Amino acid sequence: MFKTQIDADEKSSILRLCRNIEEISHKSISERGEFNIAISGGETAKKMYAELVNFDVDWKLTKIFWVDERCVGANSPDSNYGCALKLFIDPLKIPQGNVFRLRGEECPVTECERYSLLLQRLVSNADKDGTPSLDCVILGMGADSHTASIFPCNMNLLSDPKLYAVSHNPKAKFWRMTMTGRTILAAKKILLPVYGGDKKTPLKKMLSDISNAPDSTPISTVISRAKDAEILTDIDLS
Ligand code: 6PG
Repeated sequence: MFKTQIDADEKSSILRLCRNIEEISHKSISERGEFNIAISGGETAKKMYAELVNFDVDWKLTKIFWVDERCVGANSPDSNYGCALKLFIDPLKIPQGNVFRLRGEECPVTECERYSLLLQRLVSNADKDGTPSLDCVILGMGADSHTASIFPCNMNLLSDPKLYAVSHNPKAKFWRMTMTGRTILAAKKILLPVYGGDKKTPLKKMLSDISNAPDSTPISTVISRAKDAEILTDIDLS
């Protein structure tokens, strides 16, 4: 199930995105005393972080995970963790004990195994097949219809039984580690911010694919199968 929220401009949509995260955190904490969120990387994420610092999330009761990470060190400008650390984790003084980075400097195979076990240990909420169910997963969408680090060339990661797996796309600068489709689809809520004119065509393609060929791309597969997904955009789809 999914819905699309179109706002007049990017800033309004980003504020809506942050309000959604705030509301989901309040609900999760009131129900279970905890909030488990996984965040993506990329330019859209950076825009979200800059605003998220102004919203009322109880970060002391929040565990922050990553949807994916590049196989680089935490100090690399390409590190998804490094970017989040600079833009919202450090500014908000979020305790490091609540922040669980994928270690891009480690062997990706063993790190995906470590991180999968960590997620199972720390996320008590699970769906019927025992997959850890995060309260909120923030995805991005690439112009090639990838999401997380699941690309059109490695769609097998959508059905991989692991929770996290190694991803390699010849067109991407780095090897990566990514949440598999199993873990993404176990999330209670998926939020997908998509901004900017260069995303109009892939966004319209995704919506068309969902109607006509839902399993044709990584993003259309994930959104069409999500328990509850919300697409937030400033793109006029008419
Ligand atoms: C990454 C992301 C990736 C990103 C999309 C959108 O590590 O790069 O997780 O999936 O979300 O590529 O990126 P932009 O927001 O930069 O367009």
